Amino acid sequence: MPKSVILDVDTGVDDAFALLYAVRNPELKVLGITCVDGNTHLDQVCRNTLYVIDAAGAGNIPVAAGARHPLMGSSGHAEHVHGNDGLGGHSKPVTNRSLDKRHAIELIKDLVNESTEPVTLIPVGPLTNIALFIATYPEVAKKLEGILLMGGSASMGNVTATAEFNIWHDPEAAHVVFNSGLPITMYGLDVFYELGVTQSHIDELRKSPSTSAQLAADLVEFRYGSMGSEITLGDYGAVASFLYPELTTSKVMNVAVDVTNGLNRGQTICDKRPNETELYPNQIGKPCKVILSVQKEEMVKRWIEVVK
Ligand code: BDR
Ligand code: CA
Repeated sequence: MPKSVILDVDTGVDDAFALLYAVRNPELKVLGITCVDGNTHLDQVCRNTLYVIDAAGAGNIPVAAGARHPLMGSSGHAEHVHGNDGLGGHSKPVTNRSLDKRHAIELIKDLVNESTEPVTLIPVGPLTNIALFIATYPEVAKKLEGILLMGGSASMGNVTATAEFNIWHDPEAAHVVFNSGLPITMYGLDVFYELGVTQSHIDELRKSPSTSAQLAADLVEFRYGSMGSEITLGDYGAVASFLYPELTTSKVMNVAVDVTNGLNRGQTICDKRPNETELYPNQIGKPCKVILSVQKEEMVKRWIEVVK
């Protein structure tokens, strides 16, 4: 029986790696996809998402637009990493697919309510939509099996020394999500850069005539060209970690989000101290399963098999 998921994306090169895989893998039932401002502005994220799932040959999956800005106002995009169109210059308009008329949080609410199977949310962008959904429909959110999110870090940041992009972009939304009391798994920067691919993977993808494989190769090539070393499949790892937890190791830690305006704004503070309130009375945050390692070769192999 395929597992039911809803993806929330800010497509984005590595979001595209996640989407190409998720909609093609028969082990997953992608009930819907919601879009959020992040790597690029919302309208472009929506265009990119429709284009990527079209190239993947997806069935009729509803795609809805969500938040146009972080909860507290604008913060930066990441076009310097993902290109001006968010897809390294490879985005194309599609005419045979359009956005669902519902707002992202309405779509999530309807899909969760209608599902006869447990549903997991997999957000791989800033958490604005997910926070709005939890705040608006808390009773529906409680029906979720859990949330496995790409974001945060128990070690270093990427936008700043301590903050990862998705959390940095909307720390207040992340605070709502991490404090929701829902079962949260964090796929953060501790593992994000592990799933590296190189020229030999591009060559393998190029052997397949499918539009999915060719887009995947174009996107890897774009990154490979701009970075010149192993490039990460990024957000795909969150989907793989959901499907194959046996390929990961993790630890439950209390996690809090820094929402102050200091140097560490957007940091996920992962409390590595023993959870002993007598020894350590100043506990912070809420329990969260933090993924600390992934089986790189196996995950990359599974991605290639599905995407090509
Ligand atoms: C995250 O930020 C975005 O640029 C990527 O798509 C990924 O979700 C990594 O910090
Ligand atoms: Ca992303």
